Amino acid sequence: MLYDAQREYRIQEVNQHDDVIVRPETLNELPLIRSVNESAFGRQDEAQLVDNLRAEGAVLVSLVAEVHGRVVGHILFSRMWIETAEDLMPAVALAPMAVVPDHQRRGIGEQLIREGLNVLCALGEQVVIVLGHPNYYPRFGFSRDKARSLSSPFPAEAFMAIELRPDALEGIHGKVKYPAAFGL
Ligand SMILES: CC(C)(COP(=O)(O)OP(=O)(O)OC[C@H]1O[C@@H](n2cnc3c(N)ncnc32)[C@H](O)[C@@H]1OP(=O)(O)O)[C@@H](O)C(=O)NCCC(=O)NCCS
Repeated sequence: MLYDAQREYRIQEVNQHDDVIVRPETLNELPLIRSVNESAFGRQDEAQLVDNLRAEGAVLVSLVAEVHGRVVGHILFSRMWIETAEDLMPAVALAPMAVVPDHQRRGIGEQLIREGLNVLCALGEQVVIVLGHPNYYPRFGFSRDKARSLSSPFPAEAFMAIELRPDALEGIHGKVKYPAAFGL
């Protein structure tokens, strides 16, 4: 149900920005994705993080935003875990996300996130976790409250989670474990 509802919303969004195509990356685009990350962040760290996550085999979903044939945005989701007293629960890390400076603030980041959540939902993923801007991610359903029982090395105000399956985090207490590429 959640998947269908989000898909409806996505179709409306795409109509509003019909020059933007959000789709999975292709293999020949890896250098373009590198340069999108370098250009958005003004440094190489996040581009390197993307490559390291690929090398580690942690990547779940990698989407690009294309405008008139140019790749202008990228979002990456990778496998992480919530370590509880009983077991390891699979979750998904959203990071990094990048839109080139001359295309920012036009809703491309929003389209990347919504499509990413659609795809993850369809894949059966249950929880997505982000360390991000406290004013931005709540509009997609990410909440600090949902992440409050997860221990992490991050400030609570920027550490958020969304449940793709209702109540997926209900009663879950644990410590987040990121892929090694994050260096945590
Ligand atoms: C963050 C980013 C991907 C958003 O892409 P975008 O296409 O501009 O996003 P949208 O148009 O959907 O939304 C713009 C909103 O992003 C907000 N935003 C999100 N993350 C932000 C951040 N880290 N710093 C500042 N603003 C941020 C802006 O305030 C703006 O909010 P508003 O609509 O209330 O004014 C883009 O700005 C970017 O690449 N920034 C540099 C890299 C970065 O900081 N990435 C995020 C950390 S992984």
